[in-house]
Amino acid sequence: MLDAGGQYCHLIARRVRELGVYSEVKPSETPASELAGRRAIIISGGPSSVYEASSPTMDAAVFSSGAAVLGICYGEQLMAHLLGGQVQKGVKGEYGRAQLTVGVNDALFGSISKHQSVWMSHRDLVAAPPPGFAITATTSTCPVAAMADPAKRLYGVQFHPEVVHTPCGQELLSNFIFGIAGCEKDWDPRQRLAATEQEIRDIARGRKIFFFVSGGVDSSVAYTLCMRALGAENVRGAYVDTGLMREGETEFVRDVFTAMSPDAFQVVDARSQFLGALAGATEPEAKRHIIGEQFVEVQEGILQSGHYLEGDWILGQGTIYPDTIESGGSLTGGKGKADLIKTHHNRVPGIQKLIDAGRIIEPLTAFYKDEVRAVGRELGLPAELLDRHPFPGPGLAIRLLCSDEDGQPAKLAEGWVVPVHSVGVQGDSRSYRPVLALERVSAEALQHATETINQLARVNRVIGLSGGHAGIGAMSVRRAAITEQRMARLRRADAIVRRLSHEHGFESKVWQFPVVIIPFGTNARPDSVVLRPIDSIDGMTAEAVLMPEAVLAEMTREILDVPGIAAVFCDLTNKPPATIEWE
Ligand code: XMP
Repeated sequence: MLDAGGQYCHLIARRVRELGVYSEVKPSETPASELAGRRAIIISGGPSSVYEASSPTMDAAVFSSGAAVLGICYGEQLMAHLLGGQVQKGVKGEYGRAQLTVGVNDALFGSISKHQSVWMSHRDLVAAPPPGFAITATTSTCPVAAMADPAKRLYGVQFHPEVVHTPCGQELLSNFIFGIAGCEKDWDPRQRLAATEQEIRDIARGRKIFFFVSGGVDSSVAYTLCMRALGAENVRGAYVDTGLMREGETEFVRDVFTAMSPDAFQVVDARSQFLGALAGATEPEAKRHIIGEQFVEVQEGILQSGHYLEGDWILGQGTIYPDTIESGGSLTGGKGKADLIKTHHNRVPGIQKLIDAGRIIEPLTAFYKDEVRAVGRELGLPAELLDRHPFPGPGLAIRLLCSDEDGQPAKLAEGWVVPVHSVGVQGDSRSYRPVLALERVSAEALQHATETINQLARVNRVIGLSGGHAGIGAMSVRRAAITEQRMARLRRADAIVRRLSHEHGFESKVWQFPVVIIPFGTNARPDSVVLRPIDSIDGMTAEAVLMPEAVLAEMTREILDVPGIAAVFCDLTNKPPATIEWE
């Protein structure tokens, strides 16, 4: 995979691996000589235009290197541009479903039927293919939706075969990988277990491994693998209870890991330290900063008191494949922030010292998340641990909203502007604005949320009321910080949501389901709950998901029984313009 900056780049590489063929992501500019021996090269999409000087490009020698090449979206345009075709600058662009008509059934389309629904997301387009290429498919707006030079085994498609909205996409990739490029099935993460364990032994060379486990999938699988490779007596783990965890989380992690090896695993209770440091903090970045600092302090303490910085100890980490590569894409929102916080956690001075000394082991750097899960299943880890939604490092603290001042909702034609500020991502920058609250949750409101936000400009999120002890106009915003009482409210509401979404099978229909508390309510019940179920590929962009009415109604009823909770809302905003977390 040559990465030209597309958010779908890793998705394509994963799709190829799903076909059972090993794939790697490389920067688009990687010289052809470094790619020698690769049978198939795919050039990803990306947000750029081939006519801009700073746009990603590639070594044109790749096209005559003997490998089969498929350009996708920007990849097709780059191929056309470099080989003498014509790329037309788009003004408006085309985003969404399109009807594809296959004119010539070549090896890429194989037995795929002539009329197909495909997913488009592009501004520029190929107006004329390079000499030697035939146009193989079109749509009403796209004259060269697919092109091919079969003699040279060069192919391009303007649409995205890697997304689920292109139903024939996986068959098309399979035609390319096996039929055209002649790849063989050589990849099954489960069969890599023995080799990975051997690698661990080779790197450890008789030394012992220490881990900070978070209860997340990656660190748990990495820890277990190391135990298998070296024997339980040579691996130790610590889990830091920050007090910002979900209900039952610490007990769950303790049970799973002490069952594996009772003496090797330690839970460090740092609850009062974290909550004490957070007392009075209200601003999102201030909260994150404090949490980062506390992690540094606690981790340093553990490393020193256990003498893990010296002697025959090395540090294990659950780093996975996407964490190891720099993407060409411009990173806003989630990933950027996730990186930032990971920098905090993984760059504690003590840890940095170990990294600099080469005393670090990361057994999962070849794998994608789905593959880590497959490895975990093979290792016999519980499904409850492996199939969990992603959970942010700073924990519930970024879902417990605070306020510096009191405030009243203001009525507009569109709804109520509630002065609870949350983080959003608009254009390339962060926003921190009030939220628009509607009297009801509806599909129309969800559909028009982005439009409404663009029109109003002063808000960055839209929420709809699902039910409450009082109406929006009768509630107000109160000064609030992180307290154990509010944290307990959030934990309770979050546990209700998790249980009901599991029971109703809704959990598996969403990528993540944050539950948020906002300081908006009545005297007796000062907080409200916001439900934020979203669908996403990797957290970089997300779509708000509407819950089935019956499930939402049951959830709302139960949450309204929690003391201190005045109302339940649903977040109807995509990312962008909002972020997934409220902070
Ligand atoms: P946002 O709110 O930026 O979140 O749209 C995108 C994804 O990233 C997760 N997230 C984090 N994960 N440490 C993490 O490990 C963090 O500091 C962090 N902040 C956000 C968030 O849960 C969502 O999946």
